[in-house]
Amino acid sequence: MKRLPHVLSLVLASTVAVAAPAATATADDAGQCKITYSVPNDWGSGFTGAVSITNTSGMAIDGWTLTFSFPGNQRITNGWGATWTQTSATAMSWNRTIAPGATLSGLGFNASYSGANSPPAEFRLNGQLCNAPTPGTKPLRDLAAARGKYFGSAMTVPELEDTQNRELTAREAGVITVGNEMKWEATEPSRGQFTFTGGDRIWAGAVAAGQRVRGHTLVWHNQTPQWVQDLPANQLRQAMLDHIAAVAGHYRGKVFAWDVVNEAFEDNGTRRQSFWQQKLGDGYLAEAFRAARAADPDAKLYYNDYNTDGLGAKSDAVYELVKSFKQQGVPIDGVGFQSHLLLGGVPASMRQNLQRFADLGVDVAITELDIRMTLPADSVKLATQAADYGAVARACLAVTRCVGITTWSLSDKHSWIPSVFPGQGAALPFDETFAPKPAYRALAGAFS
Ligand code: XIL
Repeated sequence: MKRLPHVLSLVLASTVAVAAPAATATADDAGQCKITYSVPNDWGSGFTGAVSITNTSGMAIDGWTLTFSFPGNQRITNGWGATWTQTSATAMSWNRTIAPGATLSGLGFNASYSGANSPPAEFRLNGQLCNAPTPGTKPLRDLAAARGKYFGSAMTVPELEDTQNRELTAREAGVITVGNEMKWEATEPSRGQFTFTGGDRIWAGAVAAGQRVRGHTLVWHNQTPQWVQDLPANQLRQAMLDHIAAVAGHYRGKVFAWDVVNEAFEDNGTRRQSFWQQKLGDGYLAEAFRAARAADPDAKLYYNDYNTDGLGAKSDAVYELVKSFKQQGVPIDGVGFQSHLLLGGVPASMRQNLQRFADLGVDVAITELDIRMTLPADSVKLATQAADYGAVARACLAVTRCVGITTWSLSDKHSWIPSVFPGQGAALPFDETFAPKPAYRALAGAFS
């Protein structure tokens, strides 16, 4: 290759350095500005807000007014770095210019409030909409990665179509679990007719955001079409093997893990009397794992369940299953602990439980974390929830083979909880407006 003259290579190098942030931006970054909004201090009746403005356009900004409105009764009492009103901040003479790519920080205010302290839904700079406000810390995916773990979230097509949700998830999650679209009812609604449209969309969205994908789930008693449940035993076995071959085959090399079998045990540790169990008996689990290994030899194969997070009859049963798989050479690489928890309900034995599975020679992962409370949420409950999230993160961090934590969606706007547990909710690290909750800061703190 021809050597570039020295001066030109310098120019190129500096061009690359300036262009790099733009190259990582997504198509949705067409806006001219990016706002970071954080609440460094909140004493219950008042708070300090901090704002920074990044000029994401190619041109210098010379003179600016930032407009916003608070969703609650927040009232700005004094501010700095700008001339503040209740709905705007205008440049001072010394910071009216923001160079392309530059970030102006040092803008802030004190305000009073009561009730919820949600951030403004949007910010406009000189009338133009800026990108959604982002939390003021490093993304959880980066914090977790620095500790050798991943942080992930479930994702569904409706959540992907919600731009704010997609952008938040792209920022925070390094791993995506497909929430519904790889389940049997989605992938094989009638026998032998496979559709991968939804799953492929989520997979493509994850790849675009630099995320790895967990497949969920091949064999389960829920969200499985009636035609499967109605099959006689001999045909049911073949349908299961065909389904695994087709679905895990389609995503071979694309997902790094599969929840092969989901929720095969009752809370008392006996086998769940699902149609699988009743027609095929105990052996269907091992058959499913062998079929998954054949279909995708590189994917990590997980057994996944809920109410198995601490020591107890149900986790004992899963433990015995994994032990017998290991003894018999049935392929299993990991155990997923869903961790759909109740406020204040993180089992004290969680770390110990994760560790005993790890000691069997499998990876462990928190796969569907959410911590629900009776609505409405209040600051006391949110503080308890934050402590709970921190405790779960620390349990995983304490176990070398705990590979990561996935929450079941990121924002309360998309949580499955209110529809399944009436009167319950507010279970996730971000609220309905995508504002980070104390739970988010607890996760960030645990990973830091
Ligand atoms: C839930 C989805 O989030 C909902 O959208 C759907 O209606 C029902 O299933 N355990 C699991 C997940 O393994 O697949 C479930 O997901 C939540 C409980």
